Amino acid sequence: ADPGPDWAAEVRELAGRRGAVLLAHNYQLPAIQDVADHVGDSLGLSRIAAAAEAETIVFCGVHFMAETAKILAPDKTVLIPDAAAGCSLADSITADQLRAWKAEHPGAVVVSYVNTTAEVKAETDVCCTSSNAVEVVESIPADREVLFLPDQFLGAHVRRVTGRENIHVWAGECHVHAGINGATLSAKAAEDPDAELFVHPECGCATSALYLAGSGAVPADRVKILSTGGMLDAARASTAASVLVATEIGMLHQLRRAAPEIDFRAVNDRASCPYMKMITPEKLLRALREGRDEVHVAPDLAARGRAAVQRMIEIGQ
Ligand code: 13P
Ligand code: SF4
Repeated sequence: ADPGPDWAAEVRELAGRRGAVLLAHNYQLPAIQDVADHVGDSLGLSRIAAAAEAETIVFCGVHFMAETAKILAPDKTVLIPDAAAGCSLADSITADQLRAWKAEHPGAVVVSYVNTTAEVKAETDVCCTSSNAVEVVESIPADREVLFLPDQFLGAHVRRVTGRENIHVWAGECHVHAGINGATLSAKAAEDPDAELFVHPECGCATSALYLAGSGAVPADRVKILSTGGMLDAARASTAASVLVATEIGMLHQLRRAAPEIDFRAVNDRASCPYMKMITPEKLLRALREGRDEVHVAPDLAARGRAAVQRMIEIGQ
């Protein structure tokens, strides 16, 4: 439900008093996106956090995103409206599991998706997000083995695009994106043959999307594998009447704002991330009133992960 204009005015006033900048991921509730200073994808928001002048960063997103902001801006206060907002993908690998995997592949370069805990980042050579994963892997000499984690669908996408076979991929997944499957995508595409398809590479249907394009079932130039930020750029450039969107449904709000003339439809309208939706208007207000939940990353851990995160924000600028 829309919390109303008084809520938004109070949020803005409290943010001003605290000297806080409000960041919101594209999957946040519409009211939270609308009240934020910046809305974006994981990479864009990390870059904004790194360059922020404000004393306090309020991160409306999930915990690993706020943790990444704290690693990049250790002297700032980083708040998240609910520290229990986790991520099933980040939970799919622990630092112990990564250490064991590294021991099996000595000398391999570890590329971790930003959807990982600070402990996993501390064991990582370079982080990436969905918008620069290909460029990050291409920055590594082709003869070096790569351990790519934790998302198997993004990993498969990177292998396909780079053509590298020496990339080992961890078998993790995001339960929200894995649930957007190929059968649903094919059925929706058949119902609307003129629609473009915007598909996030974490989706279970990313391979099916390329198959649809390769088989001619959907013209190849109508199928786009994109990060959430990439979807917004593609929406602004699109001349299509309708677009089928395969990602978390919070994304539809920014897409409709970016290109109001296009009919955006979710491939799976139940693809809502329960962790992203734990950040409610009431909890944002509480965060600003009470200064909680504050995000801490142990300084030695942050120091070990910082170079990997810094490389991530530098690659693909
Ligand atoms: P991006 O914003 O980088 O596309 O990430 C999607 C995601 O699932 C974050 O949780
Ligand atoms: Fe994690 Fe998936 Fe939710 Fe993104 S959508 S925060 S990857 S559980």
